[in-house]
This record gives sequence, C-alpha cells and structure tokens, in this order.
Amino acid sequence: MEKRESFKTSFGVFAAAVGSAVGLGNIWRFPYIVGENGGAAFILVYLLCVAIIGLPVLLSEFIVGREGKLNAIGSYKKVAPNTKWYLSGVLGVMSAFLILSFYSVIAGWTLEYVFKAITNQFVGKSPVEIESMFTSFITNPVKSIAWQLLILTITCYIVATGIEKGIEKYSSILVPALVGIIIILDIRALTLPGASEGMKFLFKPDFSKVNGKVILDALGHSFFSLSLGAGTMITYGSYIKKNENLGTSALKIGIADTLIAILAGVAIFPVVFAFGIQPNSGPGLVFITLPNVFPKIPGGYIFSVLFFVLLALAAVTSTISMLEAVVAYAMERFNISRKKASIITTILIGIVGIFAALSNGPLSHILIFENTFLNFLDKLTANYFMTIGSLITILFVGWKLDKSIIENQITNEGILKSSYQGTYYFITRYISPLAIIIVFLASIGII
Ligand code: PFF
Repeated sequence: MEKRESFKTSFGVFAAAVGSAVGLGNIWRFPYIVGENGGAAFILVYLLCVAIIGLPVLLSEFIVGREGKLNAIGSYKKVAPNTKWYLSGVLGVMSAFLILSFYSVIAGWTLEYVFKAITNQFVGKSPVEIESMFTSFITNPVKSIAWQLLILTITCYIVATGIEKGIEKYSSILVPALVGIIIILDIRALTLPGASEGMKFLFKPDFSKVNGKVILDALGHSFFSLSLGAGTMITYGSYIKKNENLGTSALKIGIADTLIAILAGVAIFPVVFAFGIQPNSGPGLVFITLPNVFPKIPGGYIFSVLFFVLLALAAVTSTISMLEAVVAYAMERFNISRKKASIITTILIGIVGIFAALSNGPLSHILIFENTFLNFLDKLTANYFMTIGSLITILFVGWKLDKSIIENQITNEGILKSSYQGTYYFITRYISPLAIIIVFLASIGII
C-alpha cells in the first residue's frame, strides 16, 4: 500500500476544492438557469440555499473525510463501523463515476469549441447555421467521442500523478488562470454599449418571479455546483491536514464558487442584452447564443477563444475531482496502485461515457424513462443519488456522529475557537435535512 498523501498547502486545498466546485455548473449551467428563472431574484434564493444548506453539507463532508482519512466509502466504514451509513459513500462514488461519464461529453464539447473559436468558425454564419453547426457536432459520434476521450485521458494523467504533484499542482495553476480569464471577459462585457440592461437583469431582483420551481432549481443547483453528495468533498477532506480550519475552508470555497458563477453571469448577460437576445435560451446559451454574438463584438475573436478555454479549464478541474473520488475508492478497496486504479477506472468510465456521447446522435432513439441516456444519467445522479447521499451525510453528522468528534474536527482538537458550532448543529439537525427532503420529494413530483 502506498503512503496516504495529503494536500501540502492551504492554498492547494482551496484551489483543489474550488476547482472541483467551479465547473460547467458555474459557467454553462448557472447562467442559463438564471436566465430561465428570471435573473436577480433567483440569484438571491440561490445565495440562501448555499448558505443554509450547501455550506453545512460541505463542512459535514469535510468532517467525515478528515475523520475517516479514507475514500468516501471507507471513511464512513471507519467512522461508523458495522452500520449502514456507508451507503452514503456508495451513492457518492457511484455519482462521481456516472457524472464523469456524461460530464466528460459536455467537457469534450468545450474543447471542440476552443478549436472552432481558434479557427474562426463563428464568423459570417447566420443564427441558423450556428445552431446547425452545434447540432451536427453533438450528433457526430466520432468527434464527440474523440474529444470526450481526450478529456478523460487528461483527467486520468493528472489524477494518476497524485494528490500533491497532480491534483494540487494543476488546480493551483488552473484555478487562478480561470479567474484571470473571467475578469478579462467581465471587463469586455461591461464596456459594451448597452451592458447595463444585462447588469439590471442580474442584480435587480423582481420577487414576483420567485415560485416553487425557482427555489427547487436553486437548491438543486447548489448541490451540483458545490460538488456535494458525490464523494468528492469527503475524499478531498481526507487529504486535508489536521491544522487546516475546516469551517473557514468550507466558507471560502462556497464564497469563491458563488462569486465565480456570478462573474460568469457578468461576462454573459451584458453581451446577451447588448445584442437584444432573450436571456432564457436554455442549455444552448453558451454554445449557440454566444457564438452568434462574438463576431459582432470588437475583439470578439480573442474573447471567444478565451471564453471556451475558460469553460474547458473549469471542466477539467472538476473532472479530476470526480475521478479522484472513484480512484481513491479503487486504490483502498482493492489495494492497488494509484496509477493502476486511475487507468482501470478511466477505462470503465469511458465505456459508459461512450454511450452517453452516442445518446445525442446514433443512439438518441433509445430512451430511458423518456430521457436520452445522457439526460437520464444527469437526472439519476442530480435528483436521486446526490440528494439522497447528501441527506444521509447531514443526518449522520447531525444526529449520529459523536459531538466530541465534530468539535475536535471544527476546533482542530481545541486549538481553534468556533463561534458557529451551535448554529451548525441546529442547521444540520433540522433545517438542512428538512429542506433536502422537500426538494427531493418535489423533484420527483410527489409534492
Ligand atoms: N461542481 C461541478 C460544477 O459545478 O460543474 C460539478 C461536479 C463536480 C459535480 C464534481 C460533482 C462532482 F463530484
């Protein structure tokens, strides 16, 4: 058995966890669900969800991970031996595996679009042509699988290299690069004539828009965006050294993830509004709407390249965290080396992933509960596995885990003072589980 690794620096922990949290969820999904749900009011509800539910679940996952010092399943088995709580870890590792198999498809699209942007393919095309360029690409089996496999290979390489030399090192480079690119794009967007309309849409709430669906979407998205219920934060927690402050780490990660999602909105909505486009164009917002607009912006070529590079970087820092959750389990359960575990699990994920890629094209007629395979995997993980996994975690920490263990984890064995412990207990016992149960029941249509 290789010696168990850990993150070396506080910044490394922060960068790796922010890298996991910040992904397609922030830059592709958040802007379009903000657009669909009416803008600023949705953002406020989202902030509330992150504060009341996301952060407590994140801290709870870190606590279980750092206490157990093993993968998501192993950590539960160690902290709660001879019980069934480890099923939360099982759901988590399964989520990580399945999410990676479809997320890598969309991550692959970002690479194709980096290529399209570099080779200037958006110029001189009508909106219809841009849309059919997107459709013919995602239905093309060879191209979509080739890019997907490239994403998986890069991810495998980084994870196989290790925690400190792989995940920590690459996240510490890629996350600051990503922030730099977002700021450049924000400046470009904000200096466009007509930008203020987009800013109003993002920051001036209209509370008449808040309804059950808005709250549900906000809560569901907060789980996905903070990578909760997927075993990743438990696994990363297990590599956090004992002198790091778990509470402030969780808080900083939550703030950074939300801030980056909002900055992505600032890069996109002023552009969308400046050209009189409806903000609610759904999942096609970044792959169809923006390529229409880039050629009309001064400097649009370079900004389109930067935008898709940003998406690709954000995607890869997330895919490595998913793979790590699966690899850590494989290594520790089967006592195999990191390299071997990385290669085997990547191959297995790739096999499932190919079906997800093909489900946009040749296999689009095969429907599971009325969904293509890719959408089915998305719903299965987001609506069921991640939500139930998070619920089990929060119930475990709120009701079962020894208070002295929680206190030791939060205060680093009495060294730190914690002013929030009482609030944290209250929220983990009552508020978060209730909220998660409501969202779960609503998302499966029971209430
Ligand atoms: N948080 C990532 C995003 O917003 O794109 C998605 C994600 C990463 C989900 C890692 C789950 C996970 F384990």
